[in-house]
Amino acid sequence: MEIALAKVAPATLKTGTLVVGAYADGSLLPAAQAVDQAAGGALVAALKRGDLDEKAGSTLMFPALGGVGAERVLLVSLGQRAALGDKPFREAVAAAAKVLAGGVAKEAAVALVDVDLPNRTPAWRVRTAARLLADGAYKFDAPRAKPVPARGAGRVTLIVESEPNGELASAVKAGLATAEGMALTKDLGNLGGNVCTPGFMAETAQKLGQEFGFEVEVLERADMEKLGMHSALSVGRASYSPCKFIVMKYSKGGAAKPIVLIGKGMTFDTGGVSLKPGANLDEMKYDMSGGGSVIGAFRTVAKLGLPINLIGLVMAVENMPGGNASRPGDVVRSMAGITIEILNTDAEGRLVLCDAMTYAERFEPACVIDLATLTGACVIALGAHASGLFANDEALAAELLAAGMTAGDRAWQMPLWDDYQGQLKSNFAEMSNLGGPAAGSVTAALFLSHFAKKYKWAHIDIAGTASVSGDAKGATGRPVPLLTEFLLSRAEAKAH
Ligand code: BES
Ligand code: MN
Ligand code: ZN
Repeated sequence: MEIALAKVAPATLKTGTLVVGAYADGSLLPAAQAVDQAAGGALVAALKRGDLDEKAGSTLMFPALGGVGAERVLLVSLGQRAALGDKPFREAVAAAAKVLAGGVAKEAAVALVDVDLPNRTPAWRVRTAARLLADGAYKFDAPRAKPVPARGAGRVTLIVESEPNGELASAVKAGLATAEGMALTKDLGNLGGNVCTPGFMAETAQKLGQEFGFEVEVLERADMEKLGMHSALSVGRASYSPCKFIVMKYSKGGAAKPIVLIGKGMTFDTGGVSLKPGANLDEMKYDMSGGGSVIGAFRTVAKLGLPINLIGLVMAVENMPGGNASRPGDVVRSMAGITIEILNTDAEGRLVLCDAMTYAERFEPACVIDLATLTGACVIALGAHASGLFANDEALAAELLAAGMTAGDRAWQMPLWDDYQGQLKSNFAEMSNLGGPAAGSVTAALFLSHFAKKYKWAHIDIAGTASVSGDAKGATGRPVPLLTEFLLSRAEAKAH
């Protein structure tokens, strides 16, 4: 998608669809007022009739309004004026994006960023709007017998009240780049496990590295064997697709210590010998979303050329049952030397992440953040709205929580207390991989914490947020917005 900024008179602007905003009390944003005047009060009259629902994100389409340059006008509700905040603003822009993405107009203009949001800068509004407009146009390119003709607005003008400056132009770029990263993450998630294999993830990372000029190394089974990554390798044993450990190195931060992102890249999680039940099992193709979000975040960072050092580690593995599979009761030695009794082969995420976390030590990281669809328990605890955040460093936790708020991709902190440690006890190894039914996302995080002794670390459980079920089934691209927000503010902090 192309997004341009312009200070233009909305009423006379020639465009396919012009988007303007109204509050639930019937009052109009400035651009909507101008359009209403030019159209002889058509918008106000419709609002008086109650044609536009009061809920933020409700829309009403006006085809061909006399006196207005646009071919059609889309009126979007921002909800109650007194309740205006990030959420209704996002809902309004996202609703507009949806209508634009499904409409015939190839070109559109959006006059919503001049909304009265006092605690958000114009740059934030532009960045947020650009991201939501581009993300709303995402379509999974499903394989079909006959291609479907493309719809939707590919060119959007964001109408601003004051002359656009460099800061706003950068905000558009950041928003677009974030949506692009999210689109890559979504594509990887939405592809079936027969296509998005560990090898496919590795190739995707390698292509990205070639496109943007950063280093990508793919470690094969033999390399992992040499490193002693027996825990990670135990998970992929029974799959026909060999494990790949993807190492991405983006270095534009000079001598600064790198930030390390680690992603769980379970391209399909059957549960292994501890086989999962059949219902919704297709959704276990999303179990590589942590890895997918690392690759997506790299796309955003590289596109923006952020002045940071970033390492991405993706453990791409498929968890299958089979004659060669791990069994409950097997004991494996992790790269860190800690021995693990596998009590349930379906608790495989921690088994692959722990070895990547040990590998991360060699980079002497500023901090390490792992992203993983780790536990069903996290979905029970937080549902689809918040990712679960665990950290061994409170400042890092606070920074990530704030990034999530700013990006509208929120996380909620959970405890990492050693009170829960007893649940991971094993009679046959130093630890078991199973913490029992109580506090499942906490014991999973606690397991990982043993491998994070040498650095500041945060773990984000995205089991509930990386994809949605039901009619709108699909990958969400989360937590790419949170990650890019975090990395953008780290880059900015460095610049000052
Ligand atoms: N990939 C799953 C977690 C998951 C569940 C993600 C639902 C998304 C939606 C993970 O590997 C898993 O199976 N976890 C088990 C752990 C248990 C055996 C300790 C779980 O949550 O049931
Ligand atoms: Mn599992
Ligand atoms: Zn899993």
